[in-house]
Amino acid sequence: MRWLLPWTMASTSTNRPSRLASAAERNRGPILSVLERVLPKQGTVLEIASGAGQHVVWFAERLPQLTWQPSDLDADCRANIAGRSADSGLANILPPREIDARAQDWGIDGVQAVLCSNMIHIAPWPATQGLIAGAGRLLAARQPLFIYGPFSRGGKHSAPSNEAFDESLRARNPDWGVRDLDEITALAEASGFALDEIVEMPANNLSVVFRMTGEG
Ligand SMILES: C[S@@+](CC[C@H](N)C(=O)[O-])C[C@H]1O[C@@H](n2cnc3c(N)ncnc32)[C@H](O)[C@@H]1O
Repeated sequence: MRWLLPWTMASTSTNRPSRLASAAERNRGPILSVLERVLPKQGTVLEIASGAGQHVVWFAERLPQLTWQPSDLDADCRANIAGRSADSGLANILPPREIDARAQDWGIDGVQAVLCSNMIHIAPWPATQGLIAGAGRLLAARQPLFIYGPFSRGGKHSAPSNEAFDESLRARNPDWGVRDLDEITALAEASGFALDEIVEMPANNLSVVFRMTGEG
């Protein structure tokens, strides 16, 4: 199973690696139900921070009219995405690209939607700034930037579990942490987006859809 990543591994009593039921597999169904509504009917969806590629392969199979462009900063992740994509046999997944959300130029164009799940809280704030700026450079009027993850709102955590998660993230890395959706929205508006939709998701997560403003 070449696509396994360290964060999805655990040792069994026989000391062989086994796969944990990862968060990506729990949340992919609820995320898909939002994506089905908000993504364009055709075109290319760029995923930033694809991780092990679990989401992109699953979404690509279920939304075959779209072309899926996975990416990640991390070389091991890209190798996992490539392996998982090859194993799927799907023709609508492009080879993973090396994209650091913070980069001034992502080296890509011709994208009709940008998707990013579970990166914002587990990366320094400049990754969020870069994500929004980069999506703003790529997307035309009405095209969506979709983000998913845990967020506070108005400076308040939505649940004690999110507050505890925030503390654990900051203990692991002081530059990580659950971000406030109001701050993200302000950033997005400064890059030409309007907040289109907030969807409450299982486990106190949110799906948030921003759309580029301007003439269609
Ligand atoms: C928790 S994983 C999320 C994976 C997947 N999107 C999901 O929802 O399961 C976080 C990912 O963010 C990536 N990442 C962190 N900082 C990044 C950056 N500046 N640019 C792009 N990817 C980044 C990491 O390499 C990692 O794959």
